[in-house]
Amino acid sequence: MSVNVEKRTDAPGNDTHAEEAWELKERVRREEGVLKQRRGFFMDAYRRSTTYLLYEDDTLLGFASARRDGYILFLAVNPDVRGEGFGEMLVAEVADNHRSVTCHARTTNAPALEFYKHIGFRVKRRIDNYYEDGGGAYYLKLGEDGLRDKLSEFMRR
Ligand SMILES: CC(C)(COP(=O)(O)OP(=O)(O)OC[C@H]1O[C@@H](n2cnc3c(N)ncnc32)[C@H](O)[C@@H]1OP(=O)(O)O)[C@@H](O)C(=O)NCCC(=O)NCCS
Repeated sequence: MSVNVEKRTDAPGNDTHAEEAWELKERVRREEGVLKQRRGFFMDAYRRSTTYLLYEDDTLLGFASARRDGYILFLAVNPDVRGEGFGEMLVAEVADNHRSVTCHARTTNAPALEFYKHIGFRVKRRIDNYYEDGGGAYYLKLGEDGLRDKLSEFMRR
C-alpha cells in the first residue's frame, strides 16, 4: 500500500468531506447499481454519523460512515483502487472505535457479501423488502473470533 494514504475523519455534525463522499457514492451507483440512497437521506445520515475517509494526494480512495452503535451506513471504495485493502482498512477503523460492527448488504450485491464474509462478518438474518425498491438485504455482524485483533494490528502497520 502506498505510504501517502492519509486518514481523515468527519465527526457527527461535521460534513467537511460529505460532498466528495456523495460524488464517489454516486459514481458507484451509476457504474455498479448499488448504494442507491437519495441525497437527502445520505446527507442527513452522513451528518449524524462518524465518517472515516482515506485520501491519497487529495483523491478520495474510500469512506465508511458509522453510527454511534457501530452500524455501517455507507461503505465505498473508489473503483480505481479496489482490491488493495482499503475496504478492510475502513472496516478496521470502525472496529477500532466500536465494540460491535454491523451492516446491511443487498442480497444481490455478491461482491460486497463476499468481501464482508472474507473479513469475518457473519450473516445474522435476511430481510425481504428492505430497500425502497423492494430489494432484500442480509444483516451482517463482525465476528468476535479474533478478527478484531487482526484488524487492529492491520491498522497499526
Ligand atoms: C465492497 C468494497 C468496499 C470492498 O473494497 P476493497 O477495497 O476492494 O476490498 P479489500 O481490498 O479491502 O478486500 C479485503 C479482502 O476481501 C477480499 N475481497 C474483496 N472483494 C471481494 C470479492 N468481490 N470477492 C471475494 N473476495 C473479496 C479481498 O480479496 C481481500 O482479501 P485478502 O485480505 O485475503 O487479500 C468495494 O468493492 C466497494 O466499494 N463496492 C461497492 C460499494 C458496496 O457494495 N459497498 C457495500 C455496500 S453494503
